Amino acid sequence: MFKGLWKQRIKLVETNLTEELRRTKSLDEKLMQAMEYSLMAGGKRLRPILLMAAADAINGKGEKYLQVASAFEMIHTYSLIHDDLPAMDNDDYRRGKLTNHKVFGEAMAILAGDALLTLAFEVALRQKGVPDEILFTVLEEISKAAGAAGMVGGQVIDLRSEGIQIDLAALKIMHMGKTGALFRAAIRCGALLAQADDKKLNALTRYAEDFGLAFQITDDILDVEGDAQILGKATGSDVKNNKSTYVTLTSLDEAKRLAKEAVDDALTALENFGSEADFLRGIVQFLTERKK
Ligand code: IPE
Ligand code: IPE
Ligand code: MG
Ligand code: MG
Ligand code: MG
Repeated sequence: MFKGLWKQRIKLVETNLTEELRRTKSLDEKLMQAMEYSLMAGGKRLRPILLMAAADAINGKGEKYLQVASAFEMIHTYSLIHDDLPAMDNDDYRRGKLTNHKVFGEAMAILAGDALLTLAFEVALRQKGVPDEILFTVLEEISKAAGAAGMVGGQVIDLRSEGIQIDLAALKIMHMGKTGALFRAAIRCGALLAQADDKKLNALTRYAEDFGLAFQITDDILDVEGDAQILGKATGSDVKNNKSTYVTLTSLDEAKRLAKEAVDDALTALENFGSEADFLRGIVQFLTERKK
């Protein structure tokens, strides 16, 4: 059941992403190609899948929120394009292909990222069947999570922590920002769109925070012992850039223990849910086994 639903949701998201690109009347064809190149390069589509799964846990109508879900994938893809730039992590491969700037040049990669970020808000605004005040709340949630208080803020801490010793508390804040914020917002938006009560919203928020932390710790681990072919991106990027990660600040074993702890906490957060949260539980299982 899990794999089937996962695949079905990926297809739904990718079809919608393609449609949204098609309806975008870009002034420049090259820009359109650069946006499409990274957005349609594959990827696990985890943030939209989590948004829909969180909504499913509340009202069983996850697929209804495809527009907002797609917006998260656009913001995420923009963050990856910029993360790979020479001024940031300077990486050559992403999602099994050359990075955006390697194909289109740095300036176009920056602008393709900018255009995906802004398109995300346009796409989210096309969400139908949701009261305006809820959509406003959701858009505020997305804006905060993507910006200085969230993903961008975390990316800045990441860059400023290169080559220096930071403590574990600071590392956790960095991870919660650069990676956690978008996961947290995706899950909270799913819950908000489905009009969850406060108790369920809080439980899903805890799930999201633990999931996000475990996800980035696993990313740090995979950067050391993953298979670049499977990952679709180079390994060893963190050491190359003198990054502060869970592996460099502790050890591989300790990073694995901390990831497992966060995974257990994520599952505990769902304890008051029944089978309606089984897909969310399944995604945690995926996280513990992931090779990409
Ligand atoms: C990679 O995210 C960057 C991090 C936040 C760790 P994903 O591992 O979700 O990347 P894709 O979308 O599957 O390519
Ligand atoms: C980047 O973290 C997170 C964002 C893109 C916001 P990393 O730099 O560790 O991601 P990868 O390993 O390049 O995918
Ligand atoms: Mg980075
Ligand atoms: Mg990177
Ligand atoms: Mg990484």
